[in-house]
Amino acid sequence: TEVEAADDGLDLAEGESHMHREMHEQPISAERMLRGRLDARFGTSHLGGLNLDARDLRAVKRVKILGCGSAYYVGQMGAQLIEELARVPADAEAASEFRYRNPIIEPDTLYVAVSQSGETIDTLLAVQEIQRKGGRVLGLVNVVGSAIARAVDGGVYLHAGPEVAVASTKALTSMFLGFALLALQLGRVRDLSIADGQRIVAGLEALPGQLKEALDLEPQLADVARRLAEAPSLFFVGRVRGYPVAREGAQKLKEISYRHAEAYQTSELKHGPLALISPAVPTVALVPDDELAERNVGALHEIAARGGPLVVVTHAGVDLGDLETSEAVDLTRIDVPRNEAELDPVLMTVPLQLLAYHASLHLGLDVDKPRNLAKSVTVE
Ligand code: G6P
Repeated sequence: TEVEAADDGLDLAEGESHMHREMHEQPISAERMLRGRLDARFGTSHLGGLNLDARDLRAVKRVKILGCGSAYYVGQMGAQLIEELARVPADAEAASEFRYRNPIIEPDTLYVAVSQSGETIDTLLAVQEIQRKGGRVLGLVNVVGSAIARAVDGGVYLHAGPEVAVASTKALTSMFLGFALLALQLGRVRDLSIADGQRIVAGLEALPGQLKEALDLEPQLADVARRLAEAPSLFFVGRVRGYPVAREGAQKLKEISYRHAEAYQTSELKHGPLALISPAVPTVALVPDDELAERNVGALHEIAARGGPLVVVTHAGVDLGDLETSEAVDLTRIDVPRNEAELDPVLMTVPLQLLAYHASLHLGLDVDKPRNLAKSVTVE
């Protein structure tokens, strides 16, 4: 039956969708992901299943992350976290493409396969190709005992509980946290200071509560979604840390509301897509309170000047200037809770989940089982 208890003990209310419940489980599943894994004293993390000691971790020269769909986008967020905290070159690649370009596998690269189901065939085959060439692969996997979990050389379980909706929400949050924990370890055997490690640990401890605050934005997002759902095409824009968030937001909207959405780097708008901006094409912009905020706001003026409606996902401290005061600008401001800058991306994914969810609901679509898509793709 549709009414079943998740392992969090939260029941699916009558008529509630799985996606809705899974979004609201995020504070609990995030807490479970972190439980017993944070070391506030030494500003690091404990991950029992890596099968790597400090010397192995120090020998890592590069990190390559592989996943599909949302797992790929969160992999891009994870790669940035690893570069920022551990200063180890890291990047993410679509697992579905990886093995077809005869990838160079290096012994001092740490490969990380990320998957909710642990059954995605493209990700599994990428793992096997790496191992065939002597590479070492870690898994960030939700489903215990799944094919990828069994194949990898070590890893971290997400403990997100069963995720039923096709659009991934709580698993994605836990994937992000998994990358943060890994980045802490890689960082603390290198040059990440104990103080910076402690700063990140404290940020992680605050995250479950802040996820709850971000979910409390639901009524505001439901409002925005009803308006945006009428637009045939939208842009999602962000820079650096915000760009993978934009990609994930666009993916969610496409998946469950069947609206065309395109993610772009805010800085690249002027090199092409600005030609498409008009009052009929809204833009969802990620503007965290970081060193790029002012530049981001500059780009938003370019959009506003062409009559493009704006939904700005930002932090309370960011000054949007006359974009907010001018009658001529169609702007909705969404302030998400602020954490450490490195951890902010995960909090910014929450309003985008809510947006896609409410757009789908408004359009009367099947939120949990969108057309043409499967929860896990086990054939090529
Ligand atoms: C499918 C789903 C996506 C998901 C992707 C990866 O394409 O529709 O929502 O992100 O698979 O799934 P995984 O189980 O490997 O995380």
